[in-house]
Amino acid sequence: MFKLDKISKSFDGTQVLKPCSLEFKTGETSVLIGPSGCGKSTLLRLLAGLIQPDLGTVFFENQPLSPASLIFQRRRMGYVIQEGGLFPHLTALGNITLLASRLGMTPIDVAKRVEYLASLTRLPMELLNRYPGQLSGGQRQRVGIMRALMLDPPVLLLDEPMGALDPLVRYDLQEDLRAIIRSLKKTAILVTHDMGEASFFGDRLLLLNVGEIVQEGHLDDFITKPSSPYVTRFINAQRMPHLIARTAGEACQ
Ligand SMILES: Nc1ncnc2c1ncn2[C@@H]1O[C@H](COP(=O)(O)OP(=O)(O)OP(=O)(O)O)[C@@H](O)[C@H]1O
Ligand SMILES: [Mg+2]
Repeated sequence: MFKLDKISKSFDGTQVLKPCSLEFKTGETSVLIGPSGCGKSTLLRLLAGLIQPDLGTVFFENQPLSPASLIFQRRRMGYVIQEGGLFPHLTALGNITLLASRLGMTPIDVAKRVEYLASLTRLPMELLNRYPGQLSGGQRQRVGIMRALMLDPPVLLLDEPMGALDPLVRYDLQEDLRAIIRSLKKTAILVTHDMGEASFFGDRLLLLNVGEIVQEGHLDDFITKPSSPYVTRFINAQRMPHLIARTAGEACQ
């Protein structure tokens, strides 16, 4: 679905993504995980074509992302922006339907799709006329997911879609989002700080550290075959007691 060929990215002379080549397969859920500032959102924005690499090429469905085709390529990617990214001056419904209406979807088809997505994301329909400022964090995230799914894209790019939610709301949203990704057979690339969340979603985890992917694979590989002490430190810092015990046990052997 995506292929990154020797891409790198700098801002103001600082390299925030070191040269890397990477693929994301159709139907797979990949999770980008790592500490704040390590380049997770930058990588996602490169995939979405919102920023361009300094060097290298991003291929989407075997075509390079290019200014000429980007507008069509972007419609095939649903993007949930970090911290929601809803337009505050539009209602939830306005946010969800903005692009579909502009693209000429009929009001009847828009209404049907909204009803379907509201039931899928379990957002009560009566909330759709509220502005983002009148919704809870969890409700806003559900609106963001509905917006990303509106054009039924094959790909979902999700930048911390659980944001800063309390554990119970987060738990419910994780369950719903994973069920949605699976039932609709989407290719998903999700960003999180949280190892528990990463392993709940991901077929494949990619752990970053200062602009570099330091390890990819299953959580088990991270625990039993860490590529560096950083990987073990990152897992231990999550304070997941069962994982700390296992890594500590291995360190003693
Ligand atoms: N437009 C920009 N201009 C300058 N620097 C930027 C820009 N966008 C990101 N950066 C820098 O690039 C680095 C990586 O940022 P990025 O947003 O990708 O981190 P992140 O891993 O998503 O962090 P967080 O978990 O806090 O969201 C940071 O040092 C950030 O300050
Ligand atoms: Mg980020």
